[in-house]
Amino acid sequence: MKPQLSPIELRALLNSRGEEAQYLRDCAARTSEELFGRAVYLRGLIEISSYCRNNCLYCGLRRDNTSAERYRLTAEQIIECCQHGYKAGLRTFVLQGGEDGYWTDERLVPLVESIVATFPDAAVTLSLGERSADSYKALRAAGASRYLLRHEAASESLYRAIHPAEMSYRARLEAIEHLLALGYQTGMGMMIGVPGQSVDDIAEDIKLIYNLKPQMVGIGPFIPHPATPFGGAEAGDIELVLNCIAIIRLMLPHALIPATTALATLCHDGHRRAIEAGANVIMPNLSPAAVRSKYSIYAGKAASGTEAAENLRDLEAELSAFGYTINYGKGDYNDTL
Ligand code: 5AD
Ligand code: SF4
Repeated sequence: MKPQLSPIELRALLNSRGEEAQYLRDCAARTSEELFGRAVYLRGLIEISSYCRNNCLYCGLRRDNTSAERYRLTAEQIIECCQHGYKAGLRTFVLQGGEDGYWTDERLVPLVESIVATFPDAAVTLSLGERSADSYKALRAAGASRYLLRHEAASESLYRAIHPAEMSYRARLEAIEHLLALGYQTGMGMMIGVPGQSVDDIAEDIKLIYNLKPQMVGIGPFIPHPATPFGGAEAGDIELVLNCIAIIRLMLPHALIPATTALATLCHDGHRRAIEAGANVIMPNLSPAAVRSKYSIYAGKAASGTEAAENLRDLEAELSAFGYTINYGKGDYNDTL
């Protein structure tokens, strides 16, 4: 797709529906198929802590949500999750959590080192929010090779509207730049349909993603959580999510794009619809069953069925019904495909 797409052209693509949208998504799916075959990569998601110092207006884990159940996995529990995942065939472990002060570099570095030493043919991805450049550097040296940090909003005014005053748009972008400069395979992304977001804001997100060229892009619908300031808002539009995935696939053909849990939560055939719009990654939940319901970012978050790592056979069956398979490889970013 020509990179110099104007904002008007981008808006038209985002707003397409019916046959036009189908054509857009078919083109994107064909692009994925040419590069990756009809196969998706897996990432085992371990939700290591539901504590968060931040207060993002949209998120159920925000610090002011006193009804959120907080837990923190031990290093031993996390390694046990990796063991389960490894046995099931997973070769990427994503350690995701709120911005929890407990997880200092002194604690995280040995944990990452130990996972890397125990599973030398697996990748460690971190998704632990904003940290200092020095921290990112230490974790990279410890063996983490990927980091997910959604930019959330490329429009500074939207960013300010969905975050408390103490959070900074600039700090978020600087963190992403540090990650890219340190050689992390870096993931950006945003929600579709967060209150106050316009289609033009999404066009700005796409432009920013195109300019920074992250290796991974996570896009899912906003889903209200009742105990947040946005609890009464509507969920994001699935059609818009799918158009967005397709546009990103066409602009960054080699990107790793998940069929997000948020989409699967809103839509029973979310995996299929995302994959048929250009997604090529699924992130099954590997967290201990006892804590899964506590990692409640939004209402009704799916963590069972084919979203659960213990059900990979079911996921294989689900994918094969529309002609796809699982690629059990590590799935590093590779722009020489
Ligand atoms: N709906 C959908 N996605 C959400 N996230 C946070 N809150 C919600 C919500 N209510 C996403 C954010 C964040 C990640 C942890 O989950 O984009 O980066
Ligand atoms: Fe914390 Fe992330 Fe939720 Fe914001 S989105 S409150 S940083 S867990």
